Amino acid sequence: MSEHDPMNKGREYSLSNDSQSTDNSLLPVTRRSVLQGAGVIGIGGISLAAGVDSVEAHETDDHLAETPPMGWNSWNYFACDINAELIKEIADAMVESGMKDAGYEYVNIDDCWMAPTRDENGNLQPHPERFPNGIDAVADYVHEKGLKLGIYSSAGTKTCQGLPASLGHEWNDAKSFAEWGVDYLKYDNCYNQGIPGKPRYREMSKALDATDREIVYSLCCWGQYDVATWGADIGGNLWRTTGDITDNWSRIMDILDQQVGLAKYAKPGHWNDPDMLEVGNPGLSTRESRAHFSLWCVLSAPLLAGNDLRDMSEEIREILTDEEVLTVNQDWAGSQGTKRKDTGNHEVWAKPLSNGDSAVCLLNRDETTGTISINADELDLKNSSAYILRDLWEKEETSTAEKITATVPPHGAVLYRVRPGTPNEAPPTTALSFDTDKTFITEGETTTVTGTFTNYGRIAIRDVDLSIDAPEGWSVSSKTSPTHSNVPPSKSVETTWEITAPSSVEPNQYDLTLSASFVWSGNNTTSVQSEGSLTVPPEPPTGDTHLSNHQWVSATIGWGEIGLDESVGNNPLTIGGTTYEQGIGTHSRSEIRYYLAGNMSQFVADVGVDDEVGDRGSVRFRVLGDGEVLTETDVLTGGTGSVHLDVDISGVELLTLVVTTEGTDYYDHADWAAAQVLE
Ligand code: GLA
Repeated sequence: MSEHDPMNKGREYSLSNDSQSTDNSLLPVTRRSVLQGAGVIGIGGISLAAGVDSVEAHETDDHLAETPPMGWNSWNYFACDINAELIKEIADAMVESGMKDAGYEYVNIDDCWMAPTRDENGNLQPHPERFPNGIDAVADYVHEKGLKLGIYSSAGTKTCQGLPASLGHEWNDAKSFAEWGVDYLKYDNCYNQGIPGKPRYREMSKALDATDREIVYSLCCWGQYDVATWGADIGGNLWRTTGDITDNWSRIMDILDQQVGLAKYAKPGHWNDPDMLEVGNPGLSTRESRAHFSLWCVLSAPLLAGNDLRDMSEEIREILTDEEVLTVNQDWAGSQGTKRKDTGNHEVWAKPLSNGDSAVCLLNRDETTGTISINADELDLKNSSAYILRDLWEKEETSTAEKITATVPPHGAVLYRVRPGTPNEAPPTTALSFDTDKTFITEGETTTVTGTFTNYGRIAIRDVDLSIDAPEGWSVSSKTSPTHSNVPPSKSVETTWEITAPSSVEPNQYDLTLSASFVWSGNNTTSVQSEGSLTVPPEPPTGDTHLSNHQWVSATIGWGEIGLDESVGNNPLTIGGTTYEQGIGTHSRSEIRYYLAGNMSQFVADVGVDDEVGDRGSVRFRVLGDGEVLTETDVLTGGTGSVHLDVDISGVELLTLVVTTEGTDYYDHADWAAAQVLE
């Protein structure tokens, strides 16, 4: 699996700093324009045609990518470990798994398909061992299955893995791709020689257009050069909006944050691309995969599966092929979803659908279960006395007066299709929330848990019966009645229980299930459930303690692994020339939580971007006590030295250390040097 380590994916290759100011490509270019008569710019020995006439390059009057492209790409799981047999087996699996029937079409070969040198005529040639019979043989195989083939090159002198690429060879290479029967080109940005993006990407667009083969054109310049503002004009069918995705929840959340403001650039034929899917890859839980997929569907993102289709669980197959969820992504109106609400770790994203419905994604980025809501009038829905919430994953419907709500587990998402409806056609929408007087519980301790059941429908609910399930060894006794005869619309009822932890129990998060059954409209009965948890924390620190010596409650990191007394790049922690013996090395976005039991009075650390990244990286450090921000640094970048933090944490039970992404998310090697809690 080492191939799947992001370190091996050329993540830290050199990204040149292109400057828009040298981009003399503002003139429109022709469809099928040729080099004659075109202005030529030469930078670094490379010539690019800057067209002079009046039609755009690679127009999609051919109706390519009318809806976000769907398919598979080799990179996220296989990186360079690819060959013709694998690609064919993936094509077989795409058919056999039902993915083809669900709409997946493109089988895309990423980097590493090419031989280390061009042939004597200057043509790209396939790697002799990996693709011994050529790309055309693979294309034939894929086409026979009713699928299409995609390929990869870079708008630079080499691909990101250092193999021959297409800058200065656009016309030749486009011709080869077309002759081989290629249907899709992903065009990367490595080794770009510092030449501005637009002319490089436009040149390939013109070359593709001149081939007379319909080739979907995917611009992979990582959101640089404001590509969203011109990607469609030069004939891009999709353009990457960020750096590379990995199978890491924090990284996926980082990418999500970078989609804000881009919706206006998406339209049929032209899509923002927040990068390929990690659904089903080892670094994500099934719940995280489902949330990632829900969000990508609401974002009208291209859906290029990035897992091993030959070997996926039934759960993952069901995520990738869910017809109702895919309908949200493929909705013909092509309107990209946007963020409608953000309360920190709880977000609501919504996409208006062409029939007037709305797809609403309630996202919980938090480490604990939470109830997330938005009102119908905050969406783009017609006025109605009630709205039907169809849970697209659970295939269940409820009827709400106005509140669109769900109790969502950590790193999870609920995806609703919301439509105007009537109060009686489905059970009333309810919320079942969970509240405890203690965030943490220790061995033998008792806590009071309150379950609250709320009726958000337009009609009354009768005979509510509430119950709670705790893990074996935990004792539960109800303190108030678990039954409630009547709950009118907009009203809540409560039951409290006392829950006692076993006298000996490992530090961990322990799940509780809250259930309610009820009667509505005549004698219909329905039951609902929601999950909560109680956390048994690790022992709190006693005396002055270096946090790198202390066990955390939970930790997330956007890339790599958290370094204890070393940087995320496994070097001694060094900021501004000072090396620290102790501390914690992270990478944005990261969040580490420590249980202090209210025993400590001060948190101290020297924070900054580690010297190992030179002047790159840009982050912010934030310290929270029991959820409240206690201090936050300005944006710190590589080479600017450290900032000393000295924070009063008297009475704080839970200390949270956060590193945020500011600007790009590369090289964010962030150190909490000499991080200590003092008594
Ligand atoms: C870049 C791209 C990735 C992948 C690799 C291949 O990092 O952004 O999606 O294509 O190159 O080397």
